Amino acid sequence: MNNFTFYIPTDIRFGRNQIQCLPEELAKYGRKVLLVYGGGSIKRNGIYDKVYELLKDFQVFELSGIEPNPKLTSVEKGAEICKKEGIEVILAVGGGSVIDASKHIACSACYEGEPWDLVLDRSKVKKALPIAVVLTICATGSEMNSGAVISNEKTCEKLEINTPLLYPRLSICDPTYLYTLPDSQTAAGTADIISHIFEQYFQKNDEAFVTDRISEALLKTCFKYGPVAMKDPCNYEARSNLMWTSTLALNHLITVGKGGAWSVHPIEHELSAFYDITHGVGLAILTPAWMKYVLCDETVDRFAMYGKNVWNIDCDDRYEAADKAIEKTKDFFVSLGLPEKLSEVGITEEKFKEMAEEAVRTSGIKTRAYYPLDVEDVVKIFEMCR
Ligand code: NZQ
Ligand code: ZN
Repeated sequence: MNNFTFYIPTDIRFGRNQIQCLPEELAKYGRKVLLVYGGGSIKRNGIYDKVYELLKDFQVFELSGIEPNPKLTSVEKGAEICKKEGIEVILAVGGGSVIDASKHIACSACYEGEPWDLVLDRSKVKKALPIAVVLTICATGSEMNSGAVISNEKTCEKLEINTPLLYPRLSICDPTYLYTLPDSQTAAGTADIISHIFEQYFQKNDEAFVTDRISEALLKTCFKYGPVAMKDPCNYEARSNLMWTSTLALNHLITVGKGGAWSVHPIEHELSAFYDITHGVGLAILTPAWMKYVLCDETVDRFAMYGKNVWNIDCDDRYEAADKAIEKTKDFFVSLGLPEKLSEVGITEEKFKEMAEEAVRTSGIKTRAYYPLDVEDVVKIFEMCR
């Protein structure tokens, strides 16, 4: 196993009614709060009213309308409010988009230059306001990690800032808040969780046995409970297992001892940067194609191991086992109603080359990935998804 450090300073409050702790916990950071939320789902499902009921002794300012694939302009607005009003703590109520925007606002509020500078050069992030989260969709793991992915609509770039200053101090994860999710978001969120696990599982290091077994358990949880949550949205067992899985899938737990660069995420981020599609949808389309493309003598054993340990595929021929596992993965995404082809989300080949160049330029996909990919490889993967 590789050396590692493992430190996550986020206080997780998981389960029904955990939101009751909000006034006491938030007061530790201050009473001037910026409430950040999205397009209005929290008003429709009552979480917004609950937050105001609990924060009656706080001075609350608002930034609403955070877009899925959050935009730089929203971050700029939020940073301005924080500076003008002397905000002490940011409360993100929503999913990855709201949390990521809040993280970028938190560091931009403590920086004198342009917020995008911090994305291009994270060493400029010296300080950030504290962030608390009320999670309403399980997918990204942003509630317990230090990453934030932001889209610059002017340059069509979608890039990540990642620094320990951006760990939320508190994350309230109540599975009943997921009951109002539309099927399309439950499906996309489940695909995102699965992809996070794959990105860390499919790496060259074979020595991190314990880490790989945890990953397999998390994958099995998604394959078991994703369909249950789709069929029965208010199933607490399904929602709670998926919610905790999404947090564990991207809080560093299943990368320790392994390392390596991710493969499918940098490619997908180009799709959502150029075409503003839902992140999990892009991942569901790309993942089976990426798996087929990288299957070779160096990778086949791990794909066969995935098939055996996660799907119980019992097969002596390694390639046959790997092919079956890839097919199972693809069928699973389709069973959740996720698209299989880029054409289904309105993407044609026009920008394949440009997106491939950007994916390679902005990530470690060419040098440190499980199976290194150059621009031509990424274009071929896009073509497989046409
Ligand atoms: O905006 P509202 O009205 O709130 O509606 C949202 C949004 O339209 C809706 N929604 C959320 N909770 C709901 C609900 N609707 C009904 N009931 C609820 N309880 O769901 C839609 C999607 O929300 P969003 O926050 O965009 O979803 P997600 O959590 O999947 O976040 C996606 C973003 O996170 C980035 C993605 O690239 C994308 O920009 N990622 C962030 C990561 C991180 N910080 O670690 C890692 C990921 O790989 C990913 O890149
Ligand atoms: Zn993701």
